[in-house]
Amino acid sequence: MSVLHEYYSRRAAEYEEIYHKPERQQDLATLKELLRRLLHGHDILEIACGTGYWTEAVAPVARSMLATDVSEEVLALAQHKSYPPDRVRFEIMDAYRPGQAAGEFTAALAAFWWSHVPHQKIQGFLRVLHGRLGEGATVVLVDNRYVDGHSTPISERDERGNTYQTRRLKDGSSFRVLKNFPSPAELAATLRTCSHGLSICELEYYWCASYQVVNNPGSPE
Ligand SMILES: C[S@@+](CC[C@H](N)C(=O)[O-])C[C@H]1O[C@@H](n2cnc3c(N)ncnc32)[C@H](O)[C@@H]1O
Repeated sequence: MSVLHEYYSRRAAEYEEIYHKPERQQDLATLKELLRRLLHGHDILEIACGTGYWTEAVAPVARSMLATDVSEEVLALAQHKSYPPDRVRFEIMDAYRPGQAAGEFTAALAAFWWSHVPHQKIQGFLRVLHGRLGEGATVVLVDNRYVDGHSTPISERDERGNTYQTRRLKDGSSFRVLKNFPSPAELAATLRTCSHGLSICELEYYWCASYQVVNNPGSPE
């Protein structure tokens, strides 16, 4: 089990406290509206769905959703939220192995997952995700911006430029968690050859990127 898997499994019951911070409510409302607009009518593969906070927000406008995560503990909580009948399925799935997901998808959603992918693994993650989705599929990514005084301070930076935070849980345990904060320019550079129509929206606490998958850059039209 990876550190990230263990950390989020043990944090499951207290995870959604981050969504109760009063100063973030305006941004969260804006994000929900944006995600519902971008993903309306889609068959969605959700990567690392956690406790289902965004699954519940998007499901009412989706055609179907397969919400996946590596942690049984978070999925157990996600399954108890309220969804339109017969629209949402849940499966254990490693985000780096989306081939495991059964079904056809026209879109993917990954909320607060990109920041946990090491720089050296991001192209591999995108390649298998995009291959699983297919040409022209919509991808929506949401994640944190680093905000001084609000974000957990960065405690360390490795030789590849990945940043780390020390996260503490209520039981007193502490974890060294990889958490990257890409700038819009870094996001655009990473997605340059595998996306079309990239749009990046920056709020005070969060960013949201959306685009269409390009699997064969440079191939004749
Ligand atoms: C920051 S949480 C995001 C949860 C949810 N998307 C949200 O925005 O509320 C990161 C999630 O990644 C999951 N995770 C960690 N490693 C994973 C992996 N290899 N594959 C899939 N999910 C993973 C954790 O269990 C956790 O639920």
